[in-house]
Amino acid sequence: MMNVKVIKITSLFLCFLFLYTTGVDATYRGEKLYMQNCMVCHADDGSGAMPGVLDLEENRAWSSIDDIKLLTRLKQGIQKPDASISMPAKGGNPALTDKDLKEIIIYMRQSFLK
Ligand code: HEC
Repeated sequence: MMNVKVIKITSLFLCFLFLYTTGVDATYRGEKLYMQNCMVCHADDGSGAMPGVLDLEENRAWSSIDDIKLLTRLKQGIQKPDASISMPAKGGNPALTDKDLKEIIIYMRQSFLK
């Protein structure tokens, strides 16, 4: 008969492994979606790929906006009257879901704020 302690430790380990891999997976998906939808304007490191797009590493105001507000902002896009370029809703890809955008946000928070 298998030791109960061994079973407990094994299930605990599998639990952690599951949580760890799903977390990593969300970041990976977020990175991929960012590169497909946002990189064209924001560059791969968030520094901005063209004039008028702010450096998201240096201008960190966005990072203190909570996830729900930031999600709304990304869904609506950002239009400033005096700006030479504005951000289209969902970066111009209407197919992006809330889940996609949340994963992009996780990726941006993890990689641009080091
Ligand atoms: C067509 C170019 C373009 C694309 C594509 C684009 N953005 Fe932007 N984004 C901008 C511009 C321009 C601004 C700056 C607006 C301003 O503050 O004047 C901006 C601002 C932002 C900000 C800062 C928001 C704030 O309130 O300070 C975040 C975060 C952001 N973009 C995320 C994204 C994400 C995530 C995607 C992909 C889903 C994306 N952007 C796609 C042009 C773009």
